[in-house]
Amino acid sequence: MNHFSYEQDELYCEGIPLRKLAEAVGTPCYVYSCATLRQHFNVFDHAFADVPHMICFSVKSNSNIAILNLLGSFGGGVDIVSGGELFRALKAGIPGDRIVYSGVGKTLDEIDYALSEDILMFNIESTQELEVIAARAKFLGRTARIALRVNPDVDPKTHPYISTGMKENKFGIDIESAINAYEQARGLGHIQILGVDCHIGSQLTEIAPFVDTLQRLRVLIEHLEKMQITIRFLDLGGGLGIVYDQEEPPHPREYAQAILQKLNGLSCTLIFEPGRVIVGNAGVLLTKVLYTKRTAIKNFIITDAGMNDLIRPSFYGSYHQIQPVERTNRETQVVDVVGPICESGDFLARDRELPLVKAGEYLTVMSAGAYGFSMGSNYNSRPRPPEVLVRGDQYFIIRQRETWDDLIRGESVPDLLNPGLSLS
Ligand code: LLP
Repeated sequence: MNHFSYEQDELYCEGIPLRKLAEAVGTPCYVYSCATLRQHFNVFDHAFADVPHMICFSVKSNSNIAILNLLGSFGGGVDIVSGGELFRALKAGIPGDRIVYSGVGKTLDEIDYALSEDILMFNIESTQELEVIAARAKFLGRTARIALRVNPDVDPKTHPYISTGMKENKFGIDIESAINAYEQARGLGHIQILGVDCHIGSQLTEIAPFVDTLQRLRVLIEHLEKMQITIRFLDLGGGLGIVYDQEEPPHPREYAQAILQKLNGLSCTLIFEPGRVIVGNAGVLLTKVLYTKRTAIKNFIITDAGMNDLIRPSFYGSYHQIQPVERTNRETQVVDVVGPICESGDFLARDRELPLVKAGEYLTVMSAGAYGFSMGSNYNSRPRPPEVLVRGDQYFIIRQRETWDDLIRGESVPDLLNPGLSLS
């Protein structure tokens, strides 16, 4: 359920007609719905109401500080994977004790930053990382609270680029080595073992891989308890899928039921790291048709949004629904919706049946709230689009459109090249 719907054939985000927004803010632009975010967060949260739990929103899916702040105001924490994400989370007002930090390549600077901000826990992905974190904590006179990210070797049955919990993936410590790694962690000073963590992949549309993982982790936790290692937090990661097209992912309530059933008296606080299921369908990319063109074998709609704004179709072959902002009765045609980038892989949709559209008309690329703006780039020297948050009949620009000056910020021409061309 989301708050993007037609009223009298005009597409609205909550109380705001998207055409008006496009005219006021320009295109391309990302638009997010506050009410949808609140609803998605609450549904997930209520589904686990019977057990102690914490929802740590995955910052990589949408990193805007207004979104983080909003989710924080609902009681959420965050899952981060870099110093930059920690900086954003803190700027957004998320307290350190609601921050968990995953990622296979944490640098010394990032580790020091997270230690000095006293985050809830590091999700450690290798024994070398464990040793480095222990050494940095000692150096800084702090204690690092940790979980080991365990790779359970479960097939999440999703796109190979976003599978993370299989033997061949770079993530986590394989489950067979986990006991030894916990034993090692226990022997290290300045380390406090707090939990067990996993994240097996993204856009999962079946429950079974989550349940298999939990079963494996329960066996591990029982083993650790026998070794007198108490696990207070069980972090089950993110990954719950959403509807882009015809998928039928489990509802968060079904997901929760399946997890709760398998807990069987386990008394840890559960941590979840959802990203997409919270924000994916709470955002759209609004774009304008620049031109239409017919070649000998294809019809093209050329939009002012390209793969630099939304890379998912080009990168993963992902499907995003595309809807005209004005709904009228018209004929359809099969088209490629493409951007202005100089790559044939720059498309938002391929061989898609869409109503006949005209240059100047606005289109909405749906389900773009997760891994949309956050994966955007300046490729082809295109300023990144603005982000707008809608609440009822109000809207807020939560990120300005970049300017051409932004494009060259930090660049300089070395004196060595002078006398060269004179700079304007
Ligand atoms: N926790 C960890 C440690 C993660 O690596 C991820 C996502 C999440 C949580 C959140 O997963 P979610 O609930 O959003 O599925 N760019 C890809 C998705 C990459 C996911 C990376 N990790 C896409 O556009 O589909």
